[in-house]
Amino acid sequence: MTILITGGAGYIGSHCCVTFLEAGHDVVVVDNLSNSRSESLKRVEAITGQTVKYELADIRDRSALEDIMTRYKCTAVVHFAGLKAVGESVAKPLEYYENNVIGTHSLLSAMETVGVHRLIFSSSATVYGEPQFLPLTESHPTGPVNPYGRTKLMVEEMLRDLAASDPKWRFTILRYFNPVGAHSSGLIGENPLGIPNNLMPFITQVADGRREQLSVFGDDYDTADGTGIRDYIHVVDLVEGHLKAHEALANLTGADNCLTVNLGTGNGYSVLQMVKAFERSSNKSIPYTIAPRREGDVVECYADTSKADEKLSWTAQKDLEAMCHDTWNWVCKNPKGYE
Ligand code: NAD
Ligand code: WQD
Repeated sequence: MTILITGGAGYIGSHCCVTFLEAGHDVVVVDNLSNSRSESLKRVEAITGQTVKYELADIRDRSALEDIMTRYKCTAVVHFAGLKAVGESVAKPLEYYENNVIGTHSLLSAMETVGVHRLIFSSSATVYGEPQFLPLTESHPTGPVNPYGRTKLMVEEMLRDLAASDPKWRFTILRYFNPVGAHSSGLIGENPLGIPNNLMPFITQVADGRREQLSVFGDDYDTADGTGIRDYIHVVDLVEGHLKAHEALANLTGADNCLTVNLGTGNGYSVLQMVKAFERSSNKSIPYTIAPRREGDVVECYADTSKADEKLSWTAQKDLEAMCHDTWNWVCKNPKGYE
């Protein structure tokens, strides 16, 4: 009874390994290390006191996946592997369709061959596109506005079609809002290579002196302080949601074999609220300037979390202070990430 965690060396995947191991599951990680380092898995071992089985492989390599799932007797898959940078997806769409869509097709084909029919998928709130109403429920219309978001929606649709084709398949599609934070040990966390695209990693690099100041993308939105609002969720809460999703797979039956659930807190915070919260937690000042709006940004985005509560018995527990504190703890203990 082993769970395959694709992309398990990455930011969310490494935290998921900790949660699943601590819950008593055996896990095997498949990762091609295109955006991570195997050191993260050594840290998972340090946190849990358990050995992490790891196979260097690409999800597009179907026969490697068949071999791994057979050797480890896998019963389910938690699927994180993929590319996630929105801007890069606009510049290199074929890489995104290949890794995210063709890669997932390869994984599902391998699962079919070896008889593994349970999967939890990392989707994103980005599939909703511009919100037509808030909070975002799972039935909100989808309409992603960039190639990355479209790859997520295409995979969702592939999973729904597959689920409809045969009740033996069981899927949980998890739509993440904005994951931030790190494990409280400070041993694992987010380690972006190059200039960070996302707000929290950028703030931390200003706090530790790697960057001079934050550019706040727009202060003329129709929000209380004029800056964009998002639903930030602690990564440890997020992976706890995966554990609950894995438990829920057992109860997905018949035609109800594909569940789509938001993972967020339901609270929206503005960019400036995030800056202030981080300043309080880190005791550092975060200089910023107001820059033009970023193309493709929505004004405001936060989750309706009632379905996660109802179907997974899961709600986020950690507040903004914990998100900022744990992020800063990780950065202070690992100024060079995993190097
Ligand atoms: P990450 O880049 O840290 O982790 C992804 C992992 O997958 C990396 O370790 C990478 O090396 C690996 N990988 C990529 N392509 C692969 C391939 N073809 N074969 C094998 N391994 C491959 O990213 P993350 O933040 O941990 O995100 C995990 C998943 O969650 C992704 O699918 C991402 O799209 C999704 N997601 C992330 C966020 C976020 O803000 N972090 C939000 C919504 C959804
Ligand atoms: C948050 C807010 C920015 C950086 C992205 C992806 C989404 C998902 C999560 C994977 C916005 C503002 C940011 C900066 C800023 N990823 N900002 N200065 O855009 O909600 O979502 O990551 O699935 O698909 O699109 O997150 O962290 O980039 O931005 O002012 O230097 O911070 O404008 O209001 P976003 P983010």
